[in-house]
Amino acid sequence: MVTSFEKRILEERKRMGATVESLSDRVEKFAGGPRNKEILLKTLQYESTGHLDFSLFPSPPVLDHGKGAKVYDVDGREYIDLHAGFTVNALGHANTEVNEAIKAQMDKISHFAELPMESRAELARLLAESMPGDFEKKVMWAVTGGEAVEIAIKLARWYTGKPIILTHWGDYHGRTAMAMGLTSKAPMMAYSYPIPPMDTAVVRIPFPYCYRCPFGKEYPACDLFCADQLEKMFQSKETWLNNPRANVTNVAAMLIEPFQSSAGYMLAPLPYLQQMKQIAEKYDYIFVSDEVQNGMGRTGKLWAIEHAGVAPDLIATAKSLSNGLPLSAVIGRKEIMDSWGPAAHSSTFTGYPAACAGGVKVFEIYERDGIVAGAAEKGAYFLDGLKQLAAKHPSIGLAEGLGLYLSVEFVRNRKTKEPAAEETSWMTGELVRSGVLCISSGYYYNRLCFAPPLVIEKEEIDQALQILDDVIGRMEGEFGLG
Ligand SMILES: Cc1ncc(COP(=O)(O)O)c(C=O)c1O
Repeated sequence: MVTSFEKRILEERKRMGATVESLSDRVEKFAGGPRNKEILLKTLQYESTGHLDFSLFPSPPVLDHGKGAKVYDVDGREYIDLHAGFTVNALGHANTEVNEAIKAQMDKISHFAELPMESRAELARLLAESMPGDFEKKVMWAVTGGEAVEIAIKLARWYTGKPIILTHWGDYHGRTAMAMGLTSKAPMMAYSYPIPPMDTAVVRIPFPYCYRCPFGKEYPACDLFCADQLEKMFQSKETWLNNPRANVTNVAAMLIEPFQSSAGYMLAPLPYLQQMKQIAEKYDYIFVSDEVQNGMGRTGKLWAIEHAGVAPDLIATAKSLSNGLPLSAVIGRKEIMDSWGPAAHSSTFTGYPAACAGGVKVFEIYERDGIVAGAAEKGAYFLDGLKQLAAKHPSIGLAEGLGLYLSVEFVRNRKTKEPAAEETSWMTGELVRSGVLCISSGYYYNRLCFAPPLVIEKEEIDQALQILDDVIGRMEGEFGLG
């Protein structure tokens, strides 16, 4: 017997949402001090419950200031930042050099519609020259990551004249209406039901989550069975993707995160990414790497896709670009970028000149201080520390990472891999209380993810590992997983 709309929908929405009362209770119970509490209650009084903040922590800390890889809340509590605002603050908090470059531009002229300015043109040059691939590149500006993704989708459809965008289950591409069509994330179900998904020309395939292979295989013995499934979809006449007899494809682009971010910092095998690119070439569609979260040196290469030696046609980038100001871009093949006319896409704060001035300084510091190589080196050190924790703690099923893009998956039993979801959420709260900010995620709510500012010191990594060791140990005691 199927439950009717009236009986089901309101009840389901209630389960997916949170009320001001329930959030206030959390603040009463978990707020980190009197000033935190006062501001959180004010937030709940005047700001919509639709923000992300309360979904990240039982009671989010109210930050006052930061320096490097440390942040401080309004009650003066110090935190090691293993979050970096979802990788925005790559060069650390309150970076004086970047802030001075931004201020210098603000003092000259902060913004004028979308008129070209020197800082914008210079950052476009730096980005274009940074993109892998032996072809000419150009840049298109936007403000948010979601908007950059939308530009990539529009461009791909415009350039190819085809509708379908291929992506992975578990990819995150933003929460604007069009980007939401590509994003698979539980809280967003609320916005795509009972209304059908926003964009019906999106086809999703499983991400190569090898620790829990969706096809029940083992990597590398599987010989990339999953990638072959996509190829098979093209060979069949019974999918939307292709008319094999007429040799006509219906796909505009594959738009993927090479390493899924919001799903839990998931690493794809590099040969899989290579095969995705080969299939894109074979069936003549655009390959887009969404590096909004893991580009700009995060993984120990400037662009994450470089690990696979693949040159994408387009890259979407945002977060770390200006170390704190909103700025995003699509970098891509010149012929694609120049295929449309003036004002094909626009928004008022596009290519904000002060943010671009910050971005130019970011590139200068990356070059001068070897930031990307540093991320690779410190990331290897951090991963080694996590692997040592895995050797000690039976609740760790997997520790993986590339550069300073790392995660740990928690299980109740290493054999059955039963996800330790409640335990992970318990740790997120305990970590904040112990002075570590990090992201919790995972397909089954059972991963902790680490993305500190790339300027984090090794001593700070050691300190964070010590706190993690303690919190994981306490969790194992509390839940009987020792
Ligand atoms: C991979 C990826 N793409 C797109 C977005 C959307 O960016 P924004 O939140 O700036 O719209 C995000 C944001 O987290 C992201 O991680």
